[in-house]
Amino acid sequence: MTIKIRKLDKKDEKSLIDICFITGDLFLKEVFPDPYLFSLFWCLYYVWYETNNSFVAFDTKTKKVIGYILSTLDTKKQEEDFKKTTATLIKNRIKEIKIKSLKTRIIAHFIINKPTSKKQRNLLKRYPAHLHINILLEYQRQGIGHRLMQTLESHLINNNVIGYHLEVGAKNNLGINFYKKYGLELVNKNRFTFTFARDLTCSS
Ligand SMILES: CC(C)(COP(=O)(O)OP(=O)(O)OC[C@H]1O[C@@H](n2cnc3c(N)ncnc32)[C@H](O)[C@@H]1OP(=O)(O)O)[C@@H](O)C(=O)NCCC(=O)NCCS
Repeated sequence: MTIKIRKLDKKDEKSLIDICFITGDLFLKEVFPDPYLFSLFWCLYYVWYETNNSFVAFDTKTKKVIGYILSTLDTKKQEEDFKKTTATLIKNRIKEIKIKSLKTRIIAHFIINKPTSKKQRNLLKRYPAHLHINILLEYQRQGIGHRLMQTLESHLINNNVIGYHLEVGAKNNLGINFYKKYGLELVNKNRFTFTFARDLTCSS
């Protein structure tokens, strides 16, 4: 196996932007068709502020990053920081690349300003960490996703995190099956997203 798992490094930024956009949700790519804008929503925050809690899969033959798992230990704090650090950059980027679409602006506003529901607050008490995982298509189904999940889980346990959760698109059957097979619990679902979680208090 030529794939090594290592900590995320700030110099991986370009590779992460590419992977994030290439493997991203098709509907969201239509709404945010610019890779940098897309990455501002789903990966750049972690490159800038969460390298300690994130990992990449690196092909030692080609010397390329081919996948990643990004995480934060404390979602509540991360969401507040995201608004302070990245929301303005998103608005500026939308202006800079002259996106006129109302749909893009409305969805961007909704994602940035999404209120935290009571249900979400309760979820965060039990499962405070969250993650994003993406692997290039040609490297999928080789066990790399499982290796990244295991690496992150050990990291979370070593940092005394009591649980983690993640959201996956309701139409992303590949992702949903992957999390089910990995043994995560389906804790919430609606028309758009499924939320999976794991309690880590019995694992330490
Ligand atoms: C979801 C995702 C992370 C899974 O990663 P992956 O590396 O393909 O996952 P794994 O290889 O560990 O497991 C996937 C399947 O391959 C199988 N597998 C594991 N090791 C294998 C190997 N050496 N050879 C062949 N198959 C293998 C697993 O048993 C699993 O089987 P299943 O599909 O029947 O459940 C990946 O498909 C992805 O990045 N998708 C695009 C982005 C995305 O949807 N992210 C999640 C949304 S939040």
